[in-house]
Amino acid sequence: MTTEDFKRAAAEAALAHVQPGMKLGLGTGSTAALFVELLGARVAEGLHVVGVPTSESTRELAERFGVPLTTLKEEPELDLTVDGADEVDPELRLIKGGGAALLREKIVAFASKRMIVIADAKKVVPTLGAFPLPIEVVPFGKEATRRAVERAAAELGLSGKVELRRAEDACPIVTDSGHSILDGHFGRIDRPEELAAALSAIPGVVEHGLFIGLADLALIAGADGVTAIEAKPAGTEARRRTA
Ligand code: A5P
Repeated sequence: MTTEDFKRAAAEAALAHVQPGMKLGLGTGSTAALFVELLGARVAEGLHVVGVPTSESTRELAERFGVPLTTLKEEPELDLTVDGADEVDPELRLIKGGGAALLREKIVAFASKRMIVIADAKKVVPTLGAFPLPIEVVPFGKEATRRAVERAAAELGLSGKVELRRAEDACPIVTDSGHSILDGHFGRIDRPEELAAALSAIPGVVEHGLFIGLADLALIAGADGVTAIEAKPAGTEARRRTA
């Protein structure tokens, strides 16, 4: 099986958690796109749900696959968000934002009663940080903000470059909300809660890609099938079981 097959298997497993009438957060990225496609097929069969997309690309996909859409303005409280991740650790802490959608992804996940992460097994890591940490920043003063991020990380013993993300034409990428993205190449983030707090204290930082305490369940697809990592009450480790 290919990585694509695993992503599809995770997306299919998430569909089992969707109930008629649910208000859904629709994630961004290649795995979330498969979920939107599969959800569209269920809608075509008569399932009634509405979705809030976490990016313009997901909005376009949902429209293409016939998933009815709404907004957080109309529906400020959602039942379930299903989204991908760039890294998942055993305590269900995530790095997200590889697709530059982390701000809307976090707002939508925070507005949801539950969040399910769907991913292939390569996304599961013992410690977050090999994937560069995306940080969404206001364009005004972004070099000052970049340096402030480097200093905050250094105070936590994290070295590694913090770089402005650029598109293929070398221009800084612009998020759906008009911001820039910094990528923190920290390698290993031993204390993600402390880094999250330090980044949130920097004025130019809009949001960072550390998702802590948001995910309730991760559905991880690999050669052995789909495995679930469930959130446990604070202070205890997440628990693994066969989905
Ligand atoms: C989008 O900003 C990200 O948070 C994605 O959810 C993440 O990059 C996972 O994407 P893939 O499913 O494409 O790996």
